[in-house]
Amino acid sequence: MGIDQGWMYSLLLKLPPEIAHAVALKGLKALHRLHLYQGSNPGPSVLQRTVMGLTFPNPVGLAAGLDKNGDYIDALASLGFGFLEIGTVTPQPQSGNPKPRLFRLPEAHALINRMGFNNKGVDYLVDRVSTARYQGILGINIGKNKTTPAERAVDDYIYCLRKVYPYASYITINISSPNTQGLRQLQFGEELDRLLQALKFEQRELEQHYQCYKPIVVKLSPDLSLDEIRDIAGKLLLNNIDGVIACNTTVGREGVEKNPLAQEAGGLSGQPLTTKNRKVMETLVTALQQKIPVIGVGGITTREDMEAAFNVGAELVQVYTALIYQGPGLIGKLLKA
Ligand SMILES: Cc1cc2nc3c(=O)[nH]c(=O)nc-3n(C[C@H](O)[C@H](O)[C@H](O)COP(=O)(O)O)c2cc1C
Repeated sequence: MGIDQGWMYSLLLKLPPEIAHAVALKGLKALHRLHLYQGSNPGPSVLQRTVMGLTFPNPVGLAAGLDKNGDYIDALASLGFGFLEIGTVTPQPQSGNPKPRLFRLPEAHALINRMGFNNKGVDYLVDRVSTARYQGILGINIGKNKTTPAERAVDDYIYCLRKVYPYASYITINISSPNTQGLRQLQFGEELDRLLQALKFEQRELEQHYQCYKPIVVKLSPDLSLDEIRDIAGKLLLNNIDGVIACNTTVGREGVEKNPLAQEAGGLSGQPLTTKNRKVMETLVTALQQKIPVIGVGGITTREDMEAAFNVGAELVQVYTALIYQGPGLIGKLLKA
């Protein structure tokens, strides 16, 4: 059943964006439950790749932020992704920024969001994950609560890491959302050192406790200078971080300057990010000396974009905004031989 085609999909794009996302996810879940949506499988074994010790059935994943609470894991898995990333989740539930906080810029195939980590808290997410049937690769993306002061941010990440460790295939440390004040500061200097050391220490403890190693992946911003990227890469190497996701949304407005919605505060995603992110990926891959894998995300809208990400050295990719504009058919298009 092709739910990406036809009137149903164009109707969705006429609804206010946050409502459309909710309706689409709820609809997908209902269709999946009623076995009315067959979905697609992750494709032939030739697409498989092993990264961070995990075997991915194909290299195209769902980026964080669409399923913040793990409410739609089985339905999203049926779309044929090679892996899913849920979250960002914080220790305590929080409502995020006031609405409207999500804006569509269709001419640019872009979105601007300032959701602000609206989520139901880590205990809720863990409960959802433990009742899901999905057996594939699941990344869980963690962050800090808005009300946690910057000097106690590490505590929030450690709290979430402990909670999600047994349920995740890998854990993503989100220090790059532009919508939580001060969060991006964790990408620099001593603050980054302290965070990475604490995470690695806790990872070793949890590995011993559960007798199972779970990779830690750091998600970066595309708004870093090339020098900052090299600096961060040095710290990631020093601390034996397992993977990097490049990138989150940008506070830049290149490519959408003339759109009145460009003045809305928040992170820009989608097509305007394609070239900028490729440069970040390329710089990171070189700086990381291919010792730490890079997962490319940001403006991957076509098979050519995906191949370009692989050509600059990304080992996996994720999508979000292109899925909103192109529907679930995007995954098949990216994976078609
Ligand atoms: C509405 C929205 C919410 C997002 N929420 C999160 C989030 O909670 N955590 C996160 O790490 N990234 C979040 N992202 C960023 C995406 O995961 C991705 O990094 C970014 O959108 C670039 O990819 P794209 O161009 O394919 O959308 C969000 C993006 C959008 C559009």
